[in-house]
Amino acid sequence: MMTHRNTLKFAYWVPNVSGGLVVSTIEQRTDWSYDYNVKLAQTAEKNGFDYALTQIRFTAGYGAENQHESVSFSHALLAKTEKLKVIAAILPGPWKPALAAKQLATIDYLTEGRIAVNVVSGWFKGEFDAIGEEWPEHDERYVRSEEFIKTLKGIWTQDNFSFQGKYYTFNNYTLKPKPIQKPTIEVFQGGSSRAARDMASRVSDWYFTNGNTVEEIKKQIDDIKEKAKQHNHEVKIGVNAFIIARDTEEEAQAVLQEIIHKANIEAVHAFGDATKEAGAASKEGEGNWAKSSFEDLVQYNDGFKTNLIGTPQQIAQRIIDLKHVGVDLILSGFLHFIEEIEYFGKHVLPLVRELEEQ
Ligand SMILES: Cc1cc2nc3c(=O)[nH]c(=O)nc-3n(C[C@H](O)[C@H](O)[C@H](O)COP(=O)(O)O)c2cc1C
Repeated sequence: MMTHRNTLKFAYWVPNVSGGLVVSTIEQRTDWSYDYNVKLAQTAEKNGFDYALTQIRFTAGYGAENQHESVSFSHALLAKTEKLKVIAAILPGPWKPALAAKQLATIDYLTEGRIAVNVVSGWFKGEFDAIGEEWPEHDERYVRSEEFIKTLKGIWTQDNFSFQGKYYTFNNYTLKPKPIQKPTIEVFQGGSSRAARDMASRVSDWYFTNGNTVEEIKKQIDDIKEKAKQHNHEVKIGVNAFIIARDTEEEAQAVLQEIIHKANIEAVHAFGDATKEAGAASKEGEGNWAKSSFEDLVQYNDGFKTNLIGTPQQIAQRIIDLKHVGVDLILSGFLHFIEEIEYFGKHVLPLVRELEEQ
């Protein structure tokens, strides 16, 4: 009998922006339309996925020519699903916490407690410039995000909430109704730099990091968990992976090689330059993309590095290795989302569940 205690959670990136998840001209049967995304969300929840993560982008960049807004798109997917939780991405700057808290509380009510939020601190300066938003330097963006998360949680849990921060002020504010989910709507964060990890160890419920090797992921987790303990805070860990599961290892590797071979070289270089304003810009040089090679950058969040590429058996074992170092959730991307999520649900997930029982 399977127990559900501490079972790994699975999430997928919602393709609410065009171009899929690789900067490559390889054929992708993934589509950013609403119809495709509804079918995908329904397929994902049927195939054992717990969460879907939408993306927020205000302008095109490196393949994402068109971008649907994350909060409204998340709500639309929730309306057509039954169990799936959808994580809406929000950028402090364009969003203010009062509006975000209210908007998400209403969606929580409308969807019987299935919304979550990913507070992202921003990586794309060109986008902020284009919409006339201030672009604080790297660590300062996390000062703002931390206040954003503290105020969200304050508003959601307290009456007469007051807060005097550098970026946000609240005076005896009471939100009604409060969210259905208790203690609060789950707060995820994206970002891996020192500043991001420190923020996770103090305020976030979930820490999302880019793809990486098991050893490097372990180092990050040990660091965060140690600090979280000092702050008497609990944080769970999600890791990005671009999954290529095929019947044979050769087939899976051939797909990877084709993606890289057909990389849009100019766009990958431009993306690499833009990321210098993001993870690579952190003082200590440990942020997302700080150490990414050209090949890594063909997948937006270093998803090849996690190496969930091979047969179902190989992938299931590597997922278990990640669990053993403290990973709680796998955030997945696929080339042809709907059909590959079906394949994953049928061939990989049952093996993971079997191995989890051992
Ligand atoms: C899983 C994940 C999802 C992210 N989603 C978005 C997003 O939707 N929009 C966005 O602008 N940035 C997104 N980011 C980027 C982060 O906001 C951040 O800028 C980047 O990870 C660099 O952070 P670092 O310097 O702290 O490592 C995401 C990052 C991760 C890891």
